[in-house]
Amino acid sequence: MPIATQTYRNLFAGLDVSVPLLDGSRCVYTNLDNAASTPPLRAVEEAVSAFMQYYSSVHRGTGFKSQLCTHIFEEARRMTAAFVGADPQVHTCMFGKNTTEMINRLALCYPFSAGRGVVLVSTMEHHSNDLPWRGVAKVLHCGVLPDGRLDEAHFDSLLREWGSRVALVAVSGASNVTGYINPVHRLAEKAHAVGARILVDCAQLAPHRKVEMGAPDDPACLDYIVLSAHKMYAPYGCGALVGRRDTFENAAPDHRGGGQVEFVTEEEVAWTNPPERDEAGSPNTAGAVALGAAIAQLSALGMDAVAAHEAELTAYALERLARVPGLQLYGDTNPANAASRVGVLPMRVEGVSHFLVGAILGYEFGIGVRSGCFCAHPYLLRLLGVGEEQARRVRGEILSGNRADMPGLVRASFGLYNSFEDVDRLVEALQRILRGDYRGVYRQDRATGEFKPEGWNVDYGEYFRFI
Ligand SMILES: Cc1ncc(COP(=O)(O)O)c(C=O)c1O
Repeated sequence: MPIATQTYRNLFAGLDVSVPLLDGSRCVYTNLDNAASTPPLRAVEEAVSAFMQYYSSVHRGTGFKSQLCTHIFEEARRMTAAFVGADPQVHTCMFGKNTTEMINRLALCYPFSAGRGVVLVSTMEHHSNDLPWRGVAKVLHCGVLPDGRLDEAHFDSLLREWGSRVALVAVSGASNVTGYINPVHRLAEKAHAVGARILVDCAQLAPHRKVEMGAPDDPACLDYIVLSAHKMYAPYGCGALVGRRDTFENAAPDHRGGGQVEFVTEEEVAWTNPPERDEAGSPNTAGAVALGAAIAQLSALGMDAVAAHEAELTAYALERLARVPGLQLYGDTNPANAASRVGVLPMRVEGVSHFLVGAILGYEFGIGVRSGCFCAHPYLLRLLGVGEEQARRVRGEILSGNRADMPGLVRASFGLYNSFEDVDRLVEALQRILRGDYRGVYRQDRATGEFKPEGWNVDYGEYFRFI
């Protein structure tokens, strides 16, 4: 058992809150959906609350509070850049609302040329690191091996075939489905060898591992990284893009408005420099404060300690889950490899819809997981072995309003505060589901695929009211 488990738990807000169950009782909620969003660190809540007494306009105000807010906002920016090892001479750090927005921003600003208009992504990507590129470039998908790992031989062959036409390689640092960590620095060397740059989607990596962009003149360096604060225990709506400043110096901003110009006439606009150039409108200062506070806390704990704790948890979960008959784990199921992946565990419960498993875990055991395709449809289809014809049939059904048989998996994902007891709770609940030992009578909404138990009647106002 990791010594620090209890200590980490105490660092977080809201973990001891109890939630209602179908039998009328309550239990302390077990959140195993951290790959989607994480609860706040207490240090984050406290920093945002302390900041509120000084909250004022950023960048343009003349008063003390405005100047202080500007200082704090810029300090959060500096901390974010330093957290990923950026070089202030070469890189800029800009804020937006999440990873999705930051990737779209890069896509809309990226300097494609007639000869270099290709983006190489992987089948493993979250839709956020695939769809934005489809809008602006020719997109090639590097495949995955049957176990879901990136097929690096395919990556190499695509670079050999398309090399001089590839403008950018865009890959996830860690998968939100299988938890695989990609060899991003090796991929960077290969991308740079053909004159392309590399973006690493760190939404799943940054909360769990040290991200190092590397020296900008090192062939293994990363050119751009993106991350989301709400996956790093700072759920106040901030995302960051850290990357080569030169990319943005000549591109027109993706959004246009206040705060990003030197001078405007009725005929002309002179844009200011990055990062302000790409941050149209008033920024989310509280979100940046939250991200800065999370970074300070994670750095104080040490990302190696974070990774070590999560590896122990993942190894324990893999060992226990492997012994549950009727449960199929996907991806790398070897507990000995836990330190080389993040704690995202996809699974299938034999004979029970992933939608139903997710519902029973929530309504009867107070456990939050995710079920479905996790915004990674191409990857899920590969992992599940869904062929083209079946995929066409599924697509037809979904478009006609029926999601009942949508393929998918159940995903449990760990945060820093999770414990061995959380794993035990999940395993016991899954064992009961497999035995049919649950009380609810569940009805499926075919339009959404979701199941709800008969008799579920909760007044959410008991838990939260605006006034
Ligand atoms: C790997 C990965 N990339 C991108 C995203 C999108 O993040 P956001 O919803 O914060 O924009 C996610 C969210 O789950 C993700 O896991």
